Amino acid sequence: MPDPSATVVPPVTDLPADERRLRRPEVRPSTSTEPQGRPTAGAVLGVERLSFYYGSFRAIRDITMDVEGHQITAVIGPSGCGKSTFIRCLNRMNELTPGTHVEGRIHYHGQDLYGPDVDPIEVRRRIGMVFQKPNPFPKSIYDNVAFGPRVNGMKPASMDDLVEESLQKAALWDEVKDKLKKSGLSLSGGQQQRLCIARCIAVRPEVILMDEPCSALDPLATNRIEELMIELKRDYTIVIVTHNMQQAARVSDRTAFFTAEVTKDGQERTGVLVELDRTERIFTTPADRRTEDYITGRFG
Ligand SMILES: Nc1ncnc2c1ncn2[C@@H]1O[C@H](COP(=O)(O)OP(=O)(O)O)[C@@H](O)[C@H]1O
Ligand SMILES: [Mg+2]
Repeated sequence: MPDPSATVVPPVTDLPADERRLRRPEVRPSTSTEPQGRPTAGAVLGVERLSFYYGSFRAIRDITMDVEGHQITAVIGPSGCGKSTFIRCLNRMNELTPGTHVEGRIHYHGQDLYGPDVDPIEVRRRIGMVFQKPNPFPKSIYDNVAFGPRVNGMKPASMDDLVEESLQKAALWDEVKDKLKKSGLSLSGGQQQRLCIARCIAVRPEVILMDEPCSALDPLATNRIEELMIELKRDYTIVIVTHNMQQAARVSDRTAFFTAEVTKDGQERTGVLVELDRTERIFTTPADRRTEDYITGRFG
């Protein structure tokens, strides 16, 4: 179990006053007794009995699990089981869809992520997101990376240094350092995805959510992103949704297997967490038959 004090959060004094609100140094263990997710003390995010509704349709039900710091947590499961819905709950991205609501709780370092005094924009800065299709802005490479710091009102000592540092961390600097003024859209798909990772990193998040970040990429570019993810977990906590089980097995420390269950009335399918465990265990000796059927290709 990781040491909770090892969680890297900048000291309070380094943060402007409006950021201190969201910062709670104590790490509170999840109080949930739900069996699937195994609450742990060092969690960065603690999800408790989370359900998410599109209108009256409950897309995911009673998800309880923790996300541990400096680990890669993979979310796998068949199409439509609610993986994207779930990951978008972790940074309040879902609430941008009208007519939706959440039930249950998500704690971020013990603080209620959906609490009334929490600013969702600040949440999305701390907990960034990279999407399936690389989506650089139609701006220069430099401006793509500087965009987040600018709109967030960050005043780095040197924007040039922040841009370079972010591109370095995203393993893209060497490929673009001589063409920072060129459009982000001029890059290859794999480079564009690393640019999006650099853009995400530039606002100094703690958690990076990735929803199938490699599904639009060729195997070489995929490999590059997988290597990068493993480097990034030194500095960040990563949650990745992937439909590629080999990818989950290669990169993640823990894996959550979701599936879609037919509701009692037989009318709808709703996503549930079947089990979460060390990745090695999920792929060798899963506890639940449904996981075994999925990973051996009997279903899904
Ligand atoms: N914006 C939306 N409005 C209504 N239903 C949605 C919306 N997005 C997803 N859903 C539904 O929620 C369920 C889960 O979808 P999703 O989270 O995208 O699954 P996955 O990422 O595992 O494929 C599906 O039944 C899907 O049709
Ligand atoms: Mg999805």
